[in-house]
Amino acid sequence: MKARVDAIIQREQAEYLERIHPAGDALISEMEAYAAERRVPIADREVALFLEITARATGARRALEIGTAIGYSVIHLLRGMPDDGTVTTIEPNDEMIRRAGDYFERAGVSSRVRVERGLALDVLPRLEGGFDLVYLDAVKEEYSDYLRLSLPLLRRGGVVICDNLLWGGQVAGEPRSPDQSASTEALRRFNREFVAHPKLRAEILSVGDGLGYGVKITD
Ligand SMILES: C[S@@+](CC[C@H](N)C(=O)[O-])C[C@H]1O[C@@H](n2cnc3c(N)ncnc32)[C@H](O)[C@@H]1O
Repeated sequence: MKARVDAIIQREQAEYLERIHPAGDALISEMEAYAAERRVPIADREVALFLEITARATGARRALEIGTAIGYSVIHLLRGMPDDGTVTTIEPNDEMIRRAGDYFERAGVSSRVRVERGLALDVLPRLEGGFDLVYLDAVKEEYSDYLRLSLPLLRRGGVVICDNLLWGGQVAGEPRSPDQSASTEALRRFNREFVAHPKLRAEILSVGDGLGYGVKITD
């Protein structure tokens, strides 16, 4: 069980919830083990499931993700989407892109994923819009810019989801170390902006490490 859940819900409750949810299939379990072993920060299982359920509930056909890592969240999104659904995902790290590519092959979804190699702030301005769902999950200090650049790419009625908004309890409490100060401060500013954004109806859910969830209400 993740140490950071203590910051959001009591450990006992978190362990109970983890116990009653079914484990992922073999590929998903292998990805979780790989990420744990190599310390790759992938979404918590409940966040990944939330993405899949949201994609399915909203009928999303085109999703945009910022921060691919090994493709764990991409595979969940695609599992909630129809057969012609696609995910565009942005990632600068070649090793991550290679690893994600292998997993996409094995999951049988390669033809439905477009990996944009590069930094999100460089890639976003050249993407074509019309996305149904946007998922922010990369550099915390850049979330505000990701939102500014990705909202015009999201259709009205589309959803935006942002991970790690409680940042292991640091946002409501104190940064654990000096090197966490900038990200913590940036998330504090971002959270205020997100929940009051004039183009969104949005809130922050205590799912995983704090999940921002909003719907675009106006262009
Ligand atoms: C938290 S991980 C993504 C996890 C993934 N979304 C999942 O849940 O399986 C963040 C990823 O963002 C990537 N990243 C770092 N800087 C970035 C940037 N400027 N633009 C886009 N991605 C970036 C990192 O290399 C890392 O793979």
